[in-house]
Amino acid sequence: MPQQLLTLSRAARLVGVTRGALQKKIRDSELSTFEGKIAITDLLRTYPAAKLEDDSMLERVTEIKAKARPRRLTQNKSTLASAEVLASRLTCVTEEVSQLRLNLMYHVELVKAITEKLHSLITANESSLKTEVQTLITWFQNELIRKTEISAHSAQLLAKDTFFRIMAATVKVLPSGHEFFVEGADSILQASLHAGLNLNYGCSSGNCGMCKSRLISGEVRKIQEHDYILTDMEKNMGYILACSNTAVTDIVLEAAEAHSVADISQQTIVAEVRKLESLSPDLLILHVKTPRTKTLRFISGQDVTLSLSETIKGDYAIASCPCDGHHLQFHIRKMPNHPFSDFVFHQLKAEQTIVVEGPKGDFVLQAESTRPIIFIAYEDGFAPVKSLIEHSMALDLAEFMHFYWLAAHENGHYLNNLCRSWADALDNFSYNNVMEKEHDATILAQTILTITTEHPQLADYEIYLAGYTKVVDAIKNLLLQQGAITEQLHCKYC
Ligand code: FES
Repeated sequence: MPQQLLTLSRAARLVGVTRGALQKKIRDSELSTFEGKIAITDLLRTYPAAKLEDDSMLERVTEIKAKARPRRLTQNKSTLASAEVLASRLTCVTEEVSQLRLNLMYHVELVKAITEKLHSLITANESSLKTEVQTLITWFQNELIRKTEISAHSAQLLAKDTFFRIMAATVKVLPSGHEFFVEGADSILQASLHAGLNLNYGCSSGNCGMCKSRLISGEVRKIQEHDYILTDMEKNMGYILACSNTAVTDIVLEAAEAHSVADISQQTIVAEVRKLESLSPDLLILHVKTPRTKTLRFISGQDVTLSLSETIKGDYAIASCPCDGHHLQFHIRKMPNHPFSDFVFHQLKAEQTIVVEGPKGDFVLQAESTRPIIFIAYEDGFAPVKSLIEHSMALDLAEFMHFYWLAAHENGHYLNNLCRSWADALDNFSYNNVMEKEHDATILAQTILTITTEHPQLADYEIYLAGYTKVVDAIKNLLLQQGAITEQLHCKYC
């Protein structure tokens, strides 16, 4: 019987685990793949208790509806794809399901097996024939029960997969092999950014042509007119604009991606202050909104220069995920004799203009690594670490993420509830907040000892460390002494 093969992303979504967890099973030879895909039967063998009821689907639908509502009210348009796109997806999926039903006619396989067994009976002795026939009947009855159970289970999983296919199409990017889902009315570009990927783009509105990609297979649909003109030759070769098309079916796309900081150009964006959110008398979150047609491209962990005038400016870590380059966050600490922080705390108002220049810095997420991750932030070092964590969550590649937030002051863990909510929501995320006595080397050493006791094989981890220079240097040395690998230890001095 032909096997139904699933991409890694679909398989992970079906059984409710991260792609990182599936990759570990594959590395440990607990799960086999065929040309990078996973057979449903193998998936069920590895996850026999996979929860196939529809609560996750319902959650997903509820989430999509919830997301759709405010946008529908504010923009007067639905977040669901257009009726035509949905109908096209449904048609393709229905055909596929029909094919799968045929595939699920397990008796084809059964008949084949029986034929083989009957052939072997031809050579049986007459004296043992009765016993052999009885054995065959028992085998047949058991097989019938077993196959029925397997088929029912497979059918459930396929039904769930069918549902997901209607709600979302999968995009596979070449040559990287990255995968992501396109949901609702998102363009291919928007969906890739939400998934934490770094597809090339400029304007995101069909003007610059930087998101030009080649459709290798599958069907797309234009969702917005674009001024950028593709030549006839480009069209014949399958080129499309990722910002102006959505995926109707699962597609394979050849597209350029940024893999390092060098692949992202410097940008200057005239943006707007959206909100000033006070966390304490000396700390606030500055929310900045870029124009919709000019979002900031960056890799998590990077900095930008924020300018309010020629003389009032400062370098700050971006504290939000690159999956939304339109809404940026910065954690601003009140500092004595610092014109920028002084202006922000005493004069800056929502809707004022602010210029964002960057990105810069090479303290960035190693997006291709599937190693488990340890994040360590000391006080305000949380800003870049928050960006890294949110990006890791979007990518869904790390097997496990452990976050240690060290602070010497009462309000040092200034977004404690946010970190707790991540730990509550994710099975592969743990959070520890640690109070330190400032610059106390003995206490710091004890803390690092606790971390290394919990994670004795530091060489297996990707480690990110951000905070004040003196503390970061001390922690870095301790981690290296405990077996951390220099190339996997990434530091940022704040
Ligand atoms: S990003 Fe500019 S045309 Fe698509």
